[in-house]
Amino acid sequence: GDPRLKGISDAIRVVPHFPKPGIMFQDITTLVSNPKAFKDTIDIFVDRYRDMDISVVAGVEARGFMFAPAIALAIGAKFIPLRKPGKLPGEVISEAYELEYGKDRLEMHVGTVQRGDRALIIDDLVATGGTLSAAIRLLERVGAEVVECACVIGLPEVKGRCRLGGKPLYMLVEPRQ
Ligand code: PRP
Ligand code: MG
Repeated sequence: GDPRLKGISDAIRVVPHFPKPGIMFQDITTLVSNPKAFKDTIDIFVDRYRDMDISVVAGVEARGFMFAPAIALAIGAKFIPLRKPGKLPGEVISEAYELEYGKDRLEMHVGTVQRGDRALIIDDLVATGGTLSAAIRLLERVGAEVVECACVIGLPEVKGRCRLGGKPLYMLVEPRQ
């Protein structure tokens, strides 16, 4: 495998029992504050996507915002934020997704992404895949083709894959214990 991946994994801090008992929180603040590990992370994504004719990189609030703009800039694509409800001032479309308890929503401005756009969706981590599935629906509703979803952290056998409707999912490292 890629020798940079161990450095990336090692830079992620695990915080046990945050935000509640039993959760092994994967803290990426220690990854983005490590210049070598952060650059390696962005470089791996950029190397993968630079020749895939991606026209838009969609980042998922909040932690996806730490990675998506850097990738968009490097590959010459437009960046679009997918935000939590009530944050975007313009006309939006909205998609709900399931949480462990209850529901949440993601919103996207209309008018930025059109039919013919080729989209890459970026987040920090995939768990159930609910967040990414809502992101996919937003982009497809305006006619974009979702080429791939990519996360820094995810389990290879993640249930999330089933919720992504067969969309390819690219992940760099597994959650740390
Ligand atoms: C976390 C994480 C992913 C999502 C993954 O975000 O950053 O976006 O959960 O979970 P899923 O695959 O089960 O949907 P969260 O909504 O906790 O908030 P944040 O990114 O704003 O911190
Ligand atoms: Mg998130």
